[in-house]
Amino acid sequence: MRIETLAVHAGHHPDPATGAVSPPIHLSTTFAREADGTLPHGFLYARSDNPTRRELERSLAALEGGATALAFASGMAATAAVFQSLLPGDHVIAPRDAYYGTAKLLREVMAGWGLGSTLVDMTDPAAVAAAVAPQTRLIWIETPSNPTLAVTDVARISAIARAAGAYCVCDNTWATPVLQRPLALGCDLVMHSTTKYLGGHSDLTGGALVAPAESDWTARLRTLQALGGAVPSAFDCWLLMRGIRSLPWRMRGHCENAAAVAGFLAGHSAIEAVHYPGLAGDPGHAVAARQMAGFGGMVSVQVKGGAEAALGVVRRVRLFTRATSLGGTESLIEHRASVEGPESRTPPGLLRLSIGLEHAEDLVEDLDQALRGVATRR
Ligand SMILES: Cc1ncc(COP(=O)(O)O)c(C=O)c1O
Repeated sequence: MRIETLAVHAGHHPDPATGAVSPPIHLSTTFAREADGTLPHGFLYARSDNPTRRELERSLAALEGGATALAFASGMAATAAVFQSLLPGDHVIAPRDAYYGTAKLLREVMAGWGLGSTLVDMTDPAAVAAAVAPQTRLIWIETPSNPTLAVTDVARISAIARAAGAYCVCDNTWATPVLQRPLALGCDLVMHSTTKYLGGHSDLTGGALVAPAESDWTARLRTLQALGGAVPSAFDCWLLMRGIRSLPWRMRGHCENAAAVAGFLAGHSAIEAVHYPGLAGDPGHAVAARQMAGFGGMVSVQVKGGAEAALGVVRRVRLFTRATSLGGTESLIEHRASVEGPESRTPPGLLRLSIGLEHAEDLVEDLDQALRGVATRR
């Protein structure tokens, strides 16, 4: 089945007890045993497993073309479970421009736990191969990356991981399974912040892991899910299932609008650089065109004049909302370096735009008037 059909139907069926077409939200934390002590429906306690989460996990697995999925309370909880599934003394290779929370987790938490890590330019396969050490157990990919939209060749990096006997994990948050299927490109695991496009309405926090098969590793990840306890509420599982149903159609709108905004910004005199893999001149364009079905809804720009000029644009927008996060129906704008703090590697003039589902011309007009201040002051 195609992704539009999977998004609507995978994991869903009318409730056998009532015929309800929209799934019930199972709030129960505990499940009754028969007189002989057995659990007739296989559920024991909500943290380990529950009917609403199980239905969501089936849907997530189908969307990514995987066999099994695990839902978490946030993207970072899913990421932490992956790193905790390794052992002290193991080594991870991750992108230099990974989501700053991922890099911070490796640096400030996992390093103290004995997990070594090397951050590399993941767009350079030779640099990745050179970073492989005998203790390397995992290569972490994030493509397109947050916030510079660097594009990693997923098949090539997966092959390097396989040759090294390491797992390859892809953070597929920005692309979504609609635009990119990392398991088909050789990855062993996909990670999502479902807070973003999968939820799609800026009203839930969640994370997910999807694997191509059950294995000792997925069993360990499931143990970490249950014992770490960072699991989503039944209501958040339900909201996420609702979001997923419209994901493929929302992604079309995000991609179409982002292409229009990126095209406008690429020709603007106040803009130093546009980071969007859909632009023919973008360094990631060729790889993205090969491995993605569309270029996504995120656009980053570097405003001429650095941080001060960029912050001026943020102050002047009227339609864009000044807020962090991404993937919702409303367009957001953010000065990334301010959010990331003193350790930020992000260029000071960079603004990250999450392009929503408004009309593209309204978005372009808003950016045009906000950028006019930059142009006239220069
Ligand atoms: C690419 C990427 N990965 C992971 C995360 C973390 O997800 P969460 O905020 O759901 O913990 C984010 C959040 O912005 C992200 O953009």
